[in-house]
Amino acid sequence: MKSISVIGSGTMGNGIAHVFAQHGYQVSLVDIKSEFLEKALATISKNMDRQVAKGAISQAEKEASLGRIATFTSLEGGVKKADLVVEAATENLGLKLDIFHQLDQLTPSEAILASNTSSISITKIAAVTKRPSQVIGMHFMNPVPVMKLVEVIRGYATSDEVTKTIMALSRDLSKDPVEVNDYPGFVANRILMPMINEAIYTLFEGVAGVSEIDTVMKLGMAHPMGPLQLADFIGLDVCLSILKVLHEGFGNPKYAPCPLLVNMVEAGYKGVKTGEGFYHYT
Ligand code: CAA
Repeated sequence: MKSISVIGSGTMGNGIAHVFAQHGYQVSLVDIKSEFLEKALATISKNMDRQVAKGAISQAEKEASLGRIATFTSLEGGVKKADLVVEAATENLGLKLDIFHQLDQLTPSEAILASNTSSISITKIAAVTKRPSQVIGMHFMNPVPVMKLVEVIRGYATSDEVTKTIMALSRDLSKDPVEVNDYPGFVANRILMPMINEAIYTLFEGVAGVSEIDTVMKLGMAHPMGPLQLADFIGLDVCLSILKVLHEGFGNPKYAPCPLLVNMVEAGYKGVKTGEGFYHYT
């Protein structure tokens, strides 16, 4: 594994590119517009500055890491030499199926195709390729340079060998991978999203206010962020779409998204990225 292609340069994609480049891999970062790629490189540089400031990496290591990231607006150019592709595009089933269908045709036949999806079925994604045994989930957590977990998701047809390779690769990135099977929400979001949804119901039903709910969970349960702040950080639209996957996938009313969450997303209150969510961001 030398050459890694990352598809999508948003929050997750630029974090994934950052971590691979910092650990010595050649990274091809692909997005549809050059301004998205420029913004991603600026974000990576700023986040590496934080690491330089606290002595985690040197200025020279920062420069060398940035030098290992090439950017592409053409999918073909960005993946043709890939040993591994990590797809981190928008969380949309049709888009992901289209990307994987193209990746199957554009990448070397031995390449592993991974998705950073937070809830879309790896089995479904793999089924649009002719190499389902080489398709796997590599679910990083935000902020990627900080969070230690990689949830490694085995699709129905993912091979043992590919799983072992991705577990070892994740450790090489100084992450702690955990292997899980492909069922709705995997493990992380199957547990996290009902907690966030319950916090929204607690607000909706007038039990307590936003800061009271978050304070209870921060100070009472030692969570670094309260559930409502975390929902804003993840994106309320993303939380809603994951809850819908859980609700539809299990057919169980306990996963039904709170009507307040549905209303907020419809009103364009999506959290940090839109400046408004449970909190106001300037
Ligand atoms: N790149 C590099 N370093 C970063 C960074 C980034 N993007 N973001 C934060 N940091 C570093 C800071 O420099 C700081 O380093 P030191 O402690 O060594 O000085 C450290 O991380 C903490 O950052 P801050 O001091 O700015 O702020 P904080 O103490 O409030 O921590 C946080 C910020 C790490 C985000 C913390 O609030 C936290 O852990 N929040 C919960 C995050 C979480 O739950 N993530 C998972 C979300 S779910 C998901 O991603 C998957 C999904 O499918 C929905």
